[in-house]
Amino acid sequence: MHLSPSLVLFSALLSSTGYAAPTAKCADGERAIYLQTNAKEGNNIVAIPIGSDGTLGAGVLHSSLGKGGNHVDGMTGMSVAPDGLLSQSAVAVAGNYLFTVNAMSNSAVMYRINPKNATNLSVYKEVPVQGTFPNTIAASSKHKIACVATTGKSNGVSCATFDDRQGLSAFDALRPLGLNQTTPPSGPPNTVSQIGFTEDEDFLVVTVKADPPTKKPGFVAVYQVEGKRVARDAARSSPAGTAILFSFDQIPHTNKFIVTDPSIGAAILDLNTETCDVTTYKAINITGQKATCWSTISPATGTAFVADGGVNRLVEINVKDGNIVNIYNYTNGDLGLFDLRAIGDYVYALAPGNGTTVLPSVTVVKAKTGKMVQHLSLATLGVTVNVQGMAFFG
Ligand SMILES: *[C@@H]1O[C@H](CO)[C@@H](O)[C@H](O)[C@H]1NC(C)=O
Ligand SMILES: *[C@@H]1O[C@H](CO)[C@@H](O)[C@H](O)[C@H]1NC(C)=O
Ligand SMILES: *[C@@H]1O[C@H](CO)[C@@H](O)[C@H](O)[C@H]1NC(C)=O
Ligand SMILES: *[C@@H]1O[C@H](CO)[C@@H](O)[C@H](O)[C@H]1NC(C)=O
Ligand SMILES: *[C@@H]1O[C@H](CO)[C@@H](O)[C@H](O)[C@H]1NC(C)=O
Ligand SMILES: *[C@@H]1O[C@H](CO)[C@@H](O)[C@H](O)[C@H]1NC(C)=O
Repeated sequence: MHLSPSLVLFSALLSSTGYAAPTAKCADGERAIYLQTNAKEGNNIVAIPIGSDGTLGAGVLHSSLGKGGNHVDGMTGMSVAPDGLLSQSAVAVAGNYLFTVNAMSNSAVMYRINPKNATNLSVYKEVPVQGTFPNTIAASSKHKIACVATTGKSNGVSCATFDDRQGLSAFDALRPLGLNQTTPPSGPPNTVSQIGFTEDEDFLVVTVKADPPTKKPGFVAVYQVEGKRVARDAARSSPAGTAILFSFDQIPHTNKFIVTDPSIGAAILDLNTETCDVTTYKAINITGQKATCWSTISPATGTAFVADGGVNRLVEINVKDGNIVNIYNYTNGDLGLFDLRAIGDYVYALAPGNGTTVLPSVTVVKAKTGKMVQHLSLATLGVTVNVQGMAFFG
């Protein structure tokens, strides 16, 4: 399959869970990464344990009680995979809870994670969200709320409180994003990319891709969060030099974010916490990139790693000045890398394959050297090219 230049997605990180101390030693089974299969006939969470040496063990599937979905190609109208959801953060963790969305069931689910065995999940009931085609979810431990963005015909942001006894409550009224879309959406342009809370969990951030044919710019929407209340209205900014805003990860202890943008590569954006406006601090051209859509920041190196759905490599970026510090190329047969998370000394990157001969897998690399230490196939679990992710616990 040909990957369009704006092929997209991600899994942003919840600030509350994203930066485990690199030296923390965990027993086998106390940490895990999570993906969703995004299968149309029945979506599942894939929970994969991280061993004490950082490598991955055998994954476990848990039903997410709904159906996945795929966007359609704007030109051909055909269903598209990989990256059917066009997002980062289709799965999110806050505290001991995991959250995900079911794109074609218009629903979200929450699970309790067993901290002694992070692949052991207990699901709460499925809850309808507002809008159609939810593709990204964020959760806040501080405010005990989860927020979902939808990118179908009815699109916007809605939020629900959660607790240990009931799971998610009902989602509140839609905060419209105003995209002229269909269900399933046509993309990649003109779709939601990611939702996430800031590190202090006092702002909710959503990235939306431009629609070049109608000259609609991409934008970042920033909502203030007070207590359990997410503001009805967002400040919207279209940072100079960006267009297809995709994933974002907050640079720890700053108001800046590394964002990916397959029209140029990446950028560092600056959030003004007084006005909620977002401006460009540095645009980062990545030469030879095809679809730079996913990002993570490593606690081991303090640098960002960005992944390209059309090139099998990781580009490492200095988050202070936006300079590219390393390009690590892999020769393991994968066609590109998608959603990824940096945990401890390692980076875990999803390679969904192309639905035929190239099978879905996770590439594990050492952050400090870029060296691949494991290439774990997901095919034996029944995972397909539709797989999306990624979040982690531990
Ligand atoms: C998947 O990739 C392989 C290797 O590049 C190629 O031979 C095959 O035709 C591709 N399949 C699709 C559906 O693009
Ligand atoms: C999963 O965790 C629950 C507690 O949350 C426990 O009751 C159950 O025995 C665990 N199952 C396995 C297979 O570890
Ligand atoms: C952890 O939980 C998973 C899923 O419930 C189960 O398959 C596995 O056996 C458990 N591992 C241990 C060591 O209990
Ligand atoms: C929405 O998109 C459709 C299909 O491209 C177009 O026909 C219609 O005019 C658009 N509506 C608005 C309000 O822009
Ligand atoms: C990025 O590259 C384009 C041409 O490929 C150029 O026009 C633009 O000025 C460059 N931007 C930066 C920030 O270097
Ligand atoms: C990876 O490939 C790029 C060209 O695509 C090259 O510039 C870079 O030096 C390579 N990295 C390594 C570590 O060989």
